[in-house]
Formats: sequence, structure tokens, C-alpha cells
Amino acid sequence: MKTVQAHIDLKQKAFENHQFFDVLKQMKSLKELDYFVPELTFWIMTFQDVLRLNEERITDPHLKMIAHHHRVEDAGHELWFLHDRSYLSNKTTNDVDIRWLFGKETRPMRDPAYAILAEVYKSESEWLNIVLLFVIESSGHVFFGKVADQVDKIGEGSKLKYFARSHLDAELSHAMFEVEDEHALYAAPLPVKIRQDAIQLVDRCYDDFHKMFDGLVAACSHRLELAR
Ligand SMILES: [Fe+2]
Repeated sequence: MKTVQAHIDLKQKAFENHQFFDVLKQMKSLKELDYFVPELTFWIMTFQDVLRLNEERITDPHLKMIAHHHRVEDAGHELWFLHDRSYLSNKTTNDVDIRWLFGKETRPMRDPAYAILAEVYKSESEWLNIVLLFVIESSGHVFFGKVADQVDKIGEGSKLKYFARSHLDAELSHAMFEVEDEHALYAAPLPVKIRQDAIQLVDRCYDDFHKMFDGLVAACSHRLELAR
């Protein structure tokens, strides 16, 4: 598992250089932050299903417990997102346009989200379901860290829940909470085939995250043009 974790760390480091984070750094107000928030909706809601379906699929009691912790720790965070979305857009979440959410414009966000969800069912080993959680979490840490930095710079973090530093702190304490289980996981040598499959899964998921964040960059450019 150590080899797989090292590979996740490598991909995570490369993800930090995604163009989206440069765009994020230029944002000077909550209004500008809202340039990409609507596009995130599909993934934030789908992620909850990924956590639920992943836990349901795992039968090994130890691995199931890890998946359960991941799901419970992130339960309700989609409500924080909906809160922030409403706050940033000045609309209630009932105003979310379903046609838009499933429209052509938002395909660059939906397609990678479906691909990541499909990983839940692809795995031949339940270890891969756990690796899937670790990959998603690693990308989340990059995103939440950089967004929290920017929200702090803008100076309005106290008005937000999902995009505030408090969310990142919750994610990090979650990682610490699981540290004992993770030690046990790291100690377990993975069979070569599972390790190879895990590395490929990590690569596929990070490819999907890169595509998803390309979609966010496109959304930001589009809204920036509209604002001009
Ligand atoms: Fe979360």
C-alpha cells in the first residue's frame, strides 16, 4: 500500500499545478469565487453517492469500517456546499436549474464525475475501493487548502461553510482519526496485480480530476467574459 500511497502523493503534487489554482489566486471577491461554484454542484452531490455505494459494495469488515468512516465524516458536507452556493448566488438552492445541471454546457463536469463513480463497480478487489477513497481525498485536500487560502485572503471566510478553512480542518481531523486503521492498511503488502490495478486507478481518477478542473477553468473564463 505504501507504493500506492507514494503514487497518490506524486499525482497530488502534480495536481497542485493545475491551471485552475492560478485562476483561483486571481479571485478578489466572493462574486468572483462564484464563477466556478455552480459547475461544482454535480460532483459535490455525486461524491455523496460515491461514498455510499462504495461502502455498500465492500464486504470485508475492516475495509468496510474504513469506507464507513469516510462516508460518515463527509455526510452533510453537501449541505454546506448548497448553503454556500445560495449565499454566493443570492438564490435559494431550489433555483438550481436542473436543465442546466444536465445540459451540454456542464458535460465537462459530469463526464469525469460519472467516470469516478464507475470506479466503485470496476474494482476486482475491495482494496481498490479503499484506494479510490484515498485518491478522492487527496485531490480534495489540494482543493480545500487552496480555496481556504483564497477565501482567507478575500477575508469573508466566516460567511461560508463548504469553502471555509473550517471544512479543510474537518477533512484533516478526519484523516487523523483514521490514522490507526491507515497504519494497518499501509502495513499490509498488496498482491502485485492489485498494486498495478491501484496505480492505474489512481492515474485514471487524476485524469478525471484534471478534466473536471479544466471544466472549472472554462466556466471561469466564460463568466469573466460575461462580467466584462
Ligand atoms: Fe468534506
